[in-house]
Amino acid sequence: MSTFYDEIGGSETLRRIVARFYEGVASDPVLRPLYPEEDLGPAEERFRLFLIQYWGGPTTYSDTRGHPRLRMRHAPFAVTPEAKDHWLTHFRAALDEVGLTPEQDAQFWDYVTHAAQFMVNTFDTPQETSLPTA
Ligand code: HEM
Repeated sequence: MSTFYDEIGGSETLRRIVARFYEGVASDPVLRPLYPEEDLGPAEERFRLFLIQYWGGPTTYSDTRGHPRLRMRHAPFAVTPEAKDHWLTHFRAALDEVGLTPEQDAQFWDYVTHAAQFMVNTFDTPQETSLPTA
């Protein structure tokens, strides 16, 4: 039985998606400061291996990193709704570049939009300061 990973073109397609995504991160003033390492290469590789595993490819991610526990791994970083929107903007651009079929694209996009929402852990609410107080 073929996996979604196989259907979309395997590791090469995911390599292209994640490379394009990290090009966006590298020049993003909201996201770039969140990434602790100066070299984004290792973070790019972790994300690539995670997506390969998630979509049914080799399990190198968990073999080396253990259980993903993604929400916990994001806890050290202030993932605000704004950061999520920037994150998704770059992911959208990356998906556009590889040209999956509409069904594949929808499946991938549905997953990352839900996962990104799940990763939000910090709510900066500047609008509250301007709410009427009485
Ligand atoms: C919502 C916005 C998001 C922000 C701002 C964000 C930010 C980050 C940051 C700063 C890191 C640490 C970089 C590193 O690995 O050194 C990271 C790691 C990671 N992120 Fe995200 N992330 C977001 C959403 C997501 C989503 C939706 C996924 C999965 C679909 C994801 C998957 C990962 C993975 C697999 C790692 C590496 C975990 C590990 O240490 O093994 N992230 N992210």
